[in-house]
Amino acid sequence: MTPSLEARLVRAAALLAAWRDVLEERGADDEAPGWAVRRGWDGFLGALPDDDLAGCEVGGAPAVAALAGAPGDLVALAREVAAVVAVREAPPPVAPAEALRGASRRKSGQVAALVALCRERGFDARRVVDVGSGAGHLTRALAQALRVEAVGLERDGARVERARARAAGHDAVAFEVVAVGAAPVALRPTDLAVGLHACGALADELVALAARDRVALVLVACCPQKIDAAARLAASCTGRARALEVAREVLGVANAFEGTPDVEALATRIALRRLLRARGVDLRRGDETHGLTPRVRRRLEAAAERALALRGLAPSSEPERQEALARARAEVGLARRRALPRRLLGAALEVALALDRARALEEAGAAADVVRLFPRALSPRNLAVVARAPTR
Ligand SMILES: C[S@@+](CC[C@H](N)C(=O)[O-])C[C@H]1O[C@@H](n2cnc3c(N)ncnc32)[C@H](O)[C@@H]1O
Repeated sequence: MTPSLEARLVRAAALLAAWRDVLEERGADDEAPGWAVRRGWDGFLGALPDDDLAGCEVGGAPAVAALAGAPGDLVALAREVAAVVAVREAPPPVAPAEALRGASRRKSGQVAALVALCRERGFDARRVVDVGSGAGHLTRALAQALRVEAVGLERDGARVERARARAAGHDAVAFEVVAVGAAPVALRPTDLAVGLHACGALADELVALAARDRVALVLVACCPQKIDAAARLAASCTGRARALEVAREVLGVANAFEGTPDVEALATRIALRRLLRARGVDLRRGDETHGLTPRVRRRLEAAAERALALRGLAPSSEPERQEALARARAEVGLARRRALPRRLLGAALEVALALDRARALEEAGAAADVVRLFPRALSPRNLAVVARAPTR
């Protein structure tokens, strides 16, 4: 029998509480995190062969649990994470994703999966309300597929203008400039609320709105760290009773990219930071690329030229850059190995957030669930909270 939402959330919260130190300490660039030293993991992680590392980055908890010679407590952590993150996959759409006008292949695939889920669940909605509608691709697709009117609510006026232009000729589709949470929004009992990659605080606003107005909801959240508050409080009573409160700077772990990271991009960043620090610039991690375009950031030569010029500093030499890059590559290798346990907990945290939202809806009377809506290749942020409105 599938465990209840409540039981799954309690298990996820217990896991996060038990390994809180790992979740909360990222560690400095060139030092072993305290939790790795305390548990005697650093030697094992640091010596992990390249193939095993890549396998774990792609395979996640089951791959870590299967590592030969891994410390027993690391294996126990990986096994528990594997159990917590095991989420049912939504059936894939029967028809191939239709390329939506102006949308990437990945966005078209995400929209097709969400539309297929709404069809499969047979939500009997008279109107779709797409919250954080962005370019409006999902709004248009749902209006067409469910043959209902659809309104996109979006706080960014320029996006709304572009969404309206794309929807020209679709009479059933409208967009409004609204900052959900700041402005009052009321949903009708026969609405279906949706949010695709509803970022930061918007995801919790949407859950609160759906619970209050007792409507059906499909929500795929992302970027939980984009909140103004210092911490995210649990949305559900179960989550609050289990102290599922997570600081903003820790929430970003749940949004971590899954798969093999772009090693050269990371090494370029670290090498740039090294060049700046060598000239006495006091930097926090991430500050080194401020003011640089994504194109300039890609190559150390261009990035260093720009970053140094911006600060009125002398340019770097080729041998200096080569040395910084070589040391940065070695550092990235070690950082990737040391990051594995935290990445596991990041995956568990992402599932815990989704379970907490689903449980909050269940506590408000809805029938709620969490499913993996599309493959990671379409987006690693692929967990959907799905709720059928409470019966009236
Ligand atoms: C990651 S984008 C996703 C857009 C679109 N749903 C998609 O999947 O392409 C999130 C969108 O939500 C909008 N947004 C964020 N917070 C909002 C709020 N409180 N009210 C309305 N829109 C919001 C952002 O401006 C952005 O367009």
